Amino acid sequence: MAQYHQFDALVVGAGGAGLMAALYASKSVNTAVISKLYPTRSHTGTAQGGISAALGNLEEDHWEWHAYDTVKGGDFLCDQDAVDILCSGAIDAIVDLEHIGLPFDRTPEGKISQRRFGGHTNNDTKKAVMRACHAADRTGHMILQTLYQNCIKNKVKFFDEYQMVDMLIENGVCNGVVAIELKTGETHVFHSKATMLATGGFGKMWKITSNAHSLTGDGPATILRKKLPLEDMEFYQFHPTGVYRMGILLSEAARGEGAVFLNGAGERFMERYMPTLKDLAPRDICSRSIFKEVKEGRGINGKDYVYLDFRPTEINKYFEADGNPKRIDAHYLETKLPDIIEFARVYLGVDPVTDPVPIQPTAHYAMGGVPTNTDTQVLSDHLGHTVEGLYAAGEVACVSVHGANRLGTNSLVDLVVFGKRGGIKMAEYAKTAALRPINQDTSHKPGEAELNKLRQSNGTERAGAIRKALQVLMDEHVGVVRTSAGLQFAIESIRDLKTRFANIKIDDKGFKWNTDLMEAWELGALLDLAEVTAVSALGREESRGGHYREDFQNRDDAKFLQHTFATMTDKTDKIDKIELNYKPVVITKYKPVERKY
Ligand code: FUM
Repeated sequence: MAQYHQFDALVVGAGGAGLMAALYASKSVNTAVISKLYPTRSHTGTAQGGISAALGNLEEDHWEWHAYDTVKGGDFLCDQDAVDILCSGAIDAIVDLEHIGLPFDRTPEGKISQRRFGGHTNNDTKKAVMRACHAADRTGHMILQTLYQNCIKNKVKFFDEYQMVDMLIENGVCNGVVAIELKTGETHVFHSKATMLATGGFGKMWKITSNAHSLTGDGPATILRKKLPLEDMEFYQFHPTGVYRMGILLSEAARGEGAVFLNGAGERFMERYMPTLKDLAPRDICSRSIFKEVKEGRGINGKDYVYLDFRPTEINKYFEADGNPKRIDAHYLETKLPDIIEFARVYLGVDPVTDPVPIQPTAHYAMGGVPTNTDTQVLSDHLGHTVEGLYAAGEVACVSVHGANRLGTNSLVDLVVFGKRGGIKMAEYAKTAALRPINQDTSHKPGEAELNKLRQSNGTERAGAIRKALQVLMDEHVGVVRTSAGLQFAIESIRDLKTRFANIKIDDKGFKWNTDLMEAWELGALLDLAEVTAVSALGREESRGGHYREDFQNRDDAKFLQHTFATMTDKTDKIDKIELNYKPVVITKYKPVERKY
């Protein structure tokens, strides 16, 4: 027998989007959040460098410039109506956050401090603009803590360390979710009028990643299994500056403060690839440039990494060479980038104040995910129909404001703007909608049965070995640069891994804190998502933003100015069939042009 709970608004996931939604929904309806983590351990807490809004605190700026930069950075795959909501809403969102207590860094006059980030420009001069508001390099941490405290104040009910294992979706309506309390293994049914997925990303399908262990795509995988589509899964962002071999993020804010890339010859190679923005070019361009430098033998000592140089003595020289009078010293850097300086010291034994830091691109962020309209309602198909009562926001969702490549800082903007919007929309809906009946005796049974089947698995394969094989495969064939042969090989190999997964062994047959079981369940989610990612990537025969095909090196607007919708139509015992459909991009005022910086 499952335990039963009833709420007007239910949010799954306690990162920035989930908490923002809960905060706004709870202003008028009975709201709960379930999360597989303790809320303040959510991945938003690792976001470092900043959150952009065209406040113009240090120099001229306009939200329309922010919008154009976002569309251009996204290689014109963004839905432009959604981008306008994002960038105009960013300004209010920052003010909201400040008013509820977020401790932003300040200028000497007491304004919110702002700094440069990749792809954010003054649209007239084309030079980098200071748009990223920040709290040192702990911006996400501060957002998470501030939102959690305010949710507690607003009496949001939290169910910490509950893992969603199924969603109650029937006849096009969502009535809540089924979850397992990790401490006891007991099943809980959360019956709700409005449900929001805010479960974050799925970067753990790659080996070198900035993502935490928890980022296994539980939300989108559950959507797929309900035969609902995922959008633009081929667009995954590789952040150029991960700690070499570990992938831990070293914020782009370092380059915002003046750091540069150096290759094995000590050359500032970005000058060759993007003469105007150089090291502050968008991430897809920087990651591909590093890939090329390494491939052509210009990595450090011919190896597969380059340097991020933020020695203050050197930064001042770089500023001078660029005709910029800015002067910084070690104290300035230690104040503005304390965490990442510490990461380099702890994880690499390198002191960035005196030595350049080895870095390589790291799997960082999903531009694709659960499709939504601009009111955060989940779409049931590429024609724009919606699932009633179901919402999604944050990295799990594809609204689509990031298009083919997200600009740095826009993830935090996305989660506060669309988290807030989603919370308001859920509350509006819940105030008028009736709670639809569910069968309290049986609604949890399918999810529980699937989990119990996995618990009883007594095969010969180990989840750890399958996960490792998946991650190596994805790094090699579904990474920064892709080919048809590599993608086909990846799809076949993922299907083999799924067959192996069906023969898995779970040692722990118990219920309490069964991490053996839950990690296997998460691996199942990653395998489904990896397959959809590779199939979507194979279908897109062009290069755009974060999706670069060596065999189709140009952007092809005539054929592919469209979003991919991938649906798992038929689950046989071994292979899931994936159907691809396409939906035109929403273009309002920004005409697609060649992306030059
Ligand atoms: O580099 C960073 O600080 C990451 C920011 C982001 O992904 O937006």
